Amino acid sequence: MNIDEIIGKLTLEEKASLCSGHDFWHSEAIERLGISSVMMCDGPHGLRKQVGEGDHLGINVSIETVCYPTASALASSFDRSVLERLGHALGKECQAENVAMLLGPGLNMKRSPLCGRNFEYFSEDPYLAGELGAAYISSLQSEGVSACVKHFAANNQETCRMSGSSNMDERTLHETYLPAFEAAVKKGKVRSVMCAYNAVNGTFCSENKQLLTDVLREQWGYDGLVVTDWGAVKDRVKGLEAGLDLEMPGGGGVQDAAIVKAVRDGELDVAVLDKAVRNLLNFLSDWEEQKQDGVSVDRSELSTLSGKLAEECAVLLQNDGILPLNKNSKVVFIGEYAAKPRYQGSGSSHINVSHPVGACETAPEIPYARGFDAHSDIPDEVMLEEAVELAQKAEVVVLFVGQSDAYESEGADRMTMELPTNQNALVEAVASVQPNTVVVLHGGAAVLLPWADKVRAVLQMHLGGERTGEAAVRLLFGKANPSGKLAETWPLRLEDNPSYLNFPGFNGEVEYREGIYIGYRYYDKKKLAVKYPFGHGLSYTEFTYSDLALEKDSITEGEAVTVTCKVRNSGNAAGAEVVQLYIGEANPGVARPVKELKGFEKLFLASGEEKTVSFSLDSRSFAYYEPRIHDWFVESGKYVIEVGSSSRDIRLSGEISMTGSREIPIYYTRTSTIGDLLKSAKGRAFMEQMMQKLHGSEEAKKAETDNLNNMGEGSERMAQTMMAEMPLGAIVTFGRMTDEQLDGLIAMLNS
Ligand code: GLC
Repeated sequence: MNIDEIIGKLTLEEKASLCSGHDFWHSEAIERLGISSVMMCDGPHGLRKQVGEGDHLGINVSIETVCYPTASALASSFDRSVLERLGHALGKECQAENVAMLLGPGLNMKRSPLCGRNFEYFSEDPYLAGELGAAYISSLQSEGVSACVKHFAANNQETCRMSGSSNMDERTLHETYLPAFEAAVKKGKVRSVMCAYNAVNGTFCSENKQLLTDVLREQWGYDGLVVTDWGAVKDRVKGLEAGLDLEMPGGGGVQDAAIVKAVRDGELDVAVLDKAVRNLLNFLSDWEEQKQDGVSVDRSELSTLSGKLAEECAVLLQNDGILPLNKNSKVVFIGEYAAKPRYQGSGSSHINVSHPVGACETAPEIPYARGFDAHSDIPDEVMLEEAVELAQKAEVVVLFVGQSDAYESEGADRMTMELPTNQNALVEAVASVQPNTVVVLHGGAAVLLPWADKVRAVLQMHLGGERTGEAAVRLLFGKANPSGKLAETWPLRLEDNPSYLNFPGFNGEVEYREGIYIGYRYYDKKKLAVKYPFGHGLSYTEFTYSDLALEKDSITEGEAVTVTCKVRNSGNAAGAEVVQLYIGEANPGVARPVKELKGFEKLFLASGEEKTVSFSLDSRSFAYYEPRIHDWFVESGKYVIEVGSSSRDIRLSGEISMTGSREIPIYYTRTSTIGDLLKSAKGRAFMEQMMQKLHGSEEAKKAETDNLNNMGEGSERMAQTMMAEMPLGAIVTFGRMTDEQLDGLIAMLNS
């Protein structure tokens, strides 16, 4: 495809028509120039391809495909290879169905546990989300299919998602809500980006030049396609000017006329339109080159993969040793999800699954009682009695519970973290007659477990895809060893969550007043107790950490540093450990989290086996986003390196000193303080000179000491603080300098 030639031949109307879809799922074709239409479909954890009437909420039927664990499960694997295996599988399914773009991954941060689409998002931590999102993208795209990272940016709730504005300061946006997308671009080389419905600081993402051009293309070097979320366009011409290329699903040409008119009226430079057309033609030519005919997939093989991934994503939240179960014990299953597992969420990601496999089907010999109706919250006395009766006869009860589809979905945020009343009643009733009770959870987000201390183990299967029931049984009976870790903190109460006071906002204005302190960054800073910490997950074996080694104990910005340690499987079952590395600045000059995840590796170890794990840290691992320079900044100082089994189960720690290569430029004015003088080399030199003069004579020192004593006990610290906080202008007010001298000083400092 000679793109320059084609652009030269396209009429203005044809160019405009290319910038919006032909229909719900296809791009526009221009037959006379050999430009064919291509298909885009949802993801992100399965191929949702609608062949009839299209819709973006999973209402109309789609073809039967494989449903994999959703993002919240995948992230809990803490394993890039899980996302790679998924990406390859999805890429093959897309090739087999002639789909050029898969709409995923979703990399929005989990600001509140109540976000209805948290099941489709990875984490509260931008590094984890970025690393795993990049792995998914690069493997999917290696199959010739474009990923489409979404929803750019700050789409962290469903309430007012199409009309609201996510409002936050510059540092919060760049340090918390953008890095995962940055990793998708820089590390994953993603070839399309989906802009979100919402606005950021009052400008809709579909026409937000700062996001779509300044950040995405100029700062990050992105040269792919920008497509809207379905129906996200507010003003098509403003969108083109901001860097939006393709409007989906395409307004049937209505917006095309607006584009033509704007060019004709001289309001829109045709060069801007050509840029969007070029990005689309690049995307189409990539597909022309990479689409493979005759690809077929073995869905049963992919379904088996889905079950394997579900095993590796499951998180053992608590276990007093009752798990793994002995297959000779008299075990019973209670709870509707044992027969009909909840394995995916509702909305655009909803996959048409031919045969989801539940625990009862996997182990039909195990007696079962329904216990509750998943479509109701009201306890059913008959079901409860039946369940209690079965529980009394058993040696071990495994309960399968979790919020229902009605609680968490696209388009509507959760109203609560509580499980339905009938399910909490069931757990209480069973646990009251059966001390050997185990709970298997299904759900895409943190929930409250008021009965956790009345049961002996809790296994979180998340929304684990179509084989989640089978995976649960294999884990329960020790055929597989749980190795997942929580990718989001489970708070003791919803009210403890940092976004609580400002979620979901008012009149569409959502103030991100918690700033960078989301998830564990908040709970750790506040030293708040939590139910289960970020990175938490148990195993059927134990792991011993030793020999932390830092390649250097001091580095300068720009140098990489390798950190290694040894991990041994000191238990008697094979298992996998996610070794996590956190970094925290010892004495930060700005507000910073106590620690931040900057490395993770999953080690598979046989009993007794020991491996060395290695992390390579670069300057970004130590940096924070500094709004005064509109960039990431490495502050000189000491940093604590922690390695552990969760954010609150640190096994080894060390210290490294960092010398930054930049200073934050300060522009002095009369309201700058004397303390500010210490923040620049020139200011420090001036201060030393000043101090020399002031303290030169003995009597001056004595007079000052006497003076201090007259100011009360705490005077030393008070005097120092008052001095540091003194505006430069006060030096004139207190007669220490003339106006001209101060102007000269400020001019010198700013020269
Ligand atoms: C939906 C979702 C988006 C999805 C798109 C197409 O509204 O926000 O994630 O990919 O529309 O269905």
